Amino acid sequence: MSNINIAIDGPAGAGKSTIAKAIAQKLDMIYLDTGAMYRGIAYKAIKNKISPTDENKVLPMLENTELRIKYDEDGQHVLVDDEDVTLFIRTPEISRGASDISAIPAVRDKLVEVQREIAANNNVIMDGRDIGSYVLPNANYKFYVTAKPEERARRRFNELKEKETLGNKTLHDILEDIITRDKNDSTRAFAPLKKVDDAIEIDTTEMTIAESIQSVINIVKKA
Ligand code: DC
Repeated sequence: MSNINIAIDGPAGAGKSTIAKAIAQKLDMIYLDTGAMYRGIAYKAIKNKISPTDENKVLPMLENTELRIKYDEDGQHVLVDDEDVTLFIRTPEISRGASDISAIPAVRDKLVEVQREIAANNNVIMDGRDIGSYVLPNANYKFYVTAKPEERARRRFNELKEKETLGNKTLHDILEDIITRDKNDSTRAFAPLKKVDDAIEIDTTEMTIAESIQSVINIVKKA
């Protein structure tokens, strides 16, 4: 029997990872946060003072980078050259860097290969920007989870505040970051963020987390 693959795409802060994690737990599947992989590569570049937009410097770095995904009781860990970077990749600087570095085709090729291999060997629910359109075009289910930018900014602001990683950012700064990232992610030439025709769109602007999760579960369970 082949594995079940669920793709969840959408812009930053729409609730993809919260939904995907909950579904993975309920349906006993693996959850793969592909954004964390781009964040891992961006982390290494920034640590080595390489600009994430500088393809000439990113490419040689990439050739000497090993990226692995590991799971334990806290969920997914991203290992870059055996360093567990999971706790260091959620800052606004890395968010921007990941968006920039993800526009480089060689970066995408390398990470997509790992993503497809995980999907071939496991029942997986994967979230990202290009999962339904490019990574897993034959996924059993495809969702496009979105929400208004102002609502996404509000959620991200509260999340960073709670984790005490907000720094001196205002809600307005976060909204600007989100708008820039949306534009970056959906206008890049290779595998941009987009809703494919066979994806089911879920707009979570007016939904609670529980309602968002339930709306996806209902569709998967019905089929
Ligand atoms: O989902 P996230 O915010 O952690 O993703 C960080 C960045 O990585 C995002 O701005 C674009 C990029 N990304 C991508 O291009 N393709 C994916 N499948 C996942 C993330």
